[in-house]
Amino acid sequence: MRNIDPIWESKYSKGHKQYYPISLDLKIRNLETKDKDLLYKWRNLEKFVLLSLTKKKVKKNEHENWFNSTICNKNILAFIIEKSLIPIGKIQFKKIGKKKCLIGIYLIGKNIGLGMGPNLIRKSCKLVFKKWKSVTIIEAEIINENKRSFYAFKKAGFENFEDKNKTTNDKINKLVLYRD
Ligand SMILES: CC(C)(COP(=O)(O)OP(=O)(O)OC[C@H]1O[C@@H](n2cnc3c(N)ncnc32)[C@H](O)[C@@H]1OP(=O)(O)O)[C@@H](O)C(=O)NCCC(=O)NCCS
Repeated sequence: MRNIDPIWESKYSKGHKQYYPISLDLKIRNLETKDKDLLYKWRNLEKFVLLSLTKKKVKKNEHENWFNSTICNKNILAFIIEKSLIPIGKIQFKKIGKKKCLIGIYLIGKNIGLGMGPNLIRKSCKLVFKKWKSVTIIEAEIINENKRSFYAFKKAGFENFEDKNKTTNDKINKLVLYRD
């Protein structure tokens, strides 16, 4: 019997968009050129500036360069999360080796803390394992203080990564998800 992956099989098109259902009103779709301004606005929200490595706002031209190189990069899979067709966040996977990729996710404003994260993470990782056959490990790097994110990844099936090079001063927790 054929092994059917529900998220992959149930993708559907609306116009030229391809949606991947997460739950009844929650979907992810591929990043599109028209998302450029929206992502610029999101990136410079105070909460995300504080979560970023540089802790600084980005300039419009920096964002344009980042966006243009992201959207056409074969080593990046970026999705917009939509709830009832309204964009509420982004989820991204970046290959960092033949077998590894790094996941990043954020939800916007009041969508945080409603329990959507674990399901989004679990199902989008399944999709990525399906799309990138060579990838066997998905890594998440989480700032120590970000307990909500840590538990969201744990609930999605991620486990602690015993990093031999980790020092006690490290501010980042690494979690990993292995292909089934
Ligand atoms: C990370 C993120 C996607 C998680 O999704 P979410 O839907 O908000 O997560 P949840 O509401 O399911 O919370 C996850 C768990 O953390 C727990 N939690 C929430 N806040 C917590 C806190 N301050 N301390 C400890 N646990 C906390 C929740 O109780 C929940 O566990 P439970 O379901 O067993 O109760 C979302 O919070 C987000 O976008 N945050 C901002 C960006 C970000 O931090 N991205 C991750 C960078 S690696």
